[in-house]
Amino acid sequence: MNLKKIIKPAVLQANAYHIPKAEGLIKLDAMENPYAWSEEIKNQWAEYLKQANLNRYPDADASNVRQQLKSSLNLSDNIDILFGNGSDELIQIILLALNKEFNSVLAVEPSFVMYRLLSELLELNFSGVLLNGDFSLNLSSVKVSIEQQQPGVIFIAWPNNPTGNCFGEDELEQIFNIAPGLVVVDEAYHVFAQKTMMSYLEKYPNVLLMRTFSKLGLAGLRLGMLFGRKEWISQFNKIRLPYNIGTLNQLSASFILDNIEILEQQAMQIRKDRQTMFTALTAINGIQAWPSNANFILFRVEDKPADEIHAALLDNKILIKNLHGSQALLKNCLRVTVGTAEENEKFISCLKAIISS
Ligand SMILES: Cc1ncc(COP(=O)(O)O)c(C=O)c1O
Repeated sequence: MNLKKIIKPAVLQANAYHIPKAEGLIKLDAMENPYAWSEEIKNQWAEYLKQANLNRYPDADASNVRQQLKSSLNLSDNIDILFGNGSDELIQIILLALNKEFNSVLAVEPSFVMYRLLSELLELNFSGVLLNGDFSLNLSSVKVSIEQQQPGVIFIAWPNNPTGNCFGEDELEQIFNIAPGLVVVDEAYHVFAQKTMMSYLEKYPNVLLMRTFSKLGLAGLRLGMLFGRKEWISQFNKIRLPYNIGTLNQLSASFILDNIEILEQQAMQIRKDRQTMFTALTAINGIQAWPSNANFILFRVEDKPADEIHAALLDNKILIKNLHGSQALLKNCLRVTVGTAEENEKFISCLKAIISS
């Protein structure tokens, strides 16, 4: 049997998403929250999980988590929530729903790589509109691209990954007004930005908003949320696999939503440490760092290749993300996640030593 005849060319040409091994390393590459729960909270959580009946399928609607979120976010009756195995799955579900005449997808670049990757795997026409050199939005290019491509969906990460900035709300609103299809505002990092575009869901029926528990503090849970008008969510819900959110995940999410102040406090600490790290980074000669509304900072090394810096940090058991080579605007750029104060200090002192060596 000829594998190449059976499998789609888009799949044959793709590379599997590479996750580097991180055992024994200070892990500052994936925007995780560095704080584990206290023993006391872990015990309460384990106790809470005892109510699970794993012989039964999960609640297919995740009703408890849905209700908790609806009331804590004060969502109106027009708005519903779709849950995914991480936001990655929600992106895939939206793309799977696109009609043939609207099989174009638009995002800015650089941005979250999954928008492009999943679009290409599904053989949709992906257009990446380049940001300006300072990573602000090139609104006129976006407008031209919308006009030409007539995208079924536009993804906008807000704050953007890997650049860390939020584009102007007025700029996004102009996009909402001219988009012929959906606009998904991806607020994966909203706890670090402390602002949201949730209220725009009421005004613009074509706008959806996506969030995730991952960056908030529970990357291991895999739970993403898509908020939008009921009429859209009910269509996407047909594509979602019936039991995509397991019982243990639903219970864990319910538990943490009842104890959300734990994650909010951690986020507050991370925001403070982000400022300390930014100040330290900008004080290093030969480094340009960009202010961030998220839990990571993008920076460029001016006098040494980013590959060399990345490798030297790894030699010192520190893992960050090397973005050099991934996109023209990210020449010699690296991205570091804000870790604990101690991890951040180690990273900064190591980086200083490498740069000045
Ligand atoms: C902008 C953005 N959206 C979504 C995700 C993925 O989130 P999840 O872990 O929920 O799949 C990421 C992860 O890096 C991201 O940066």
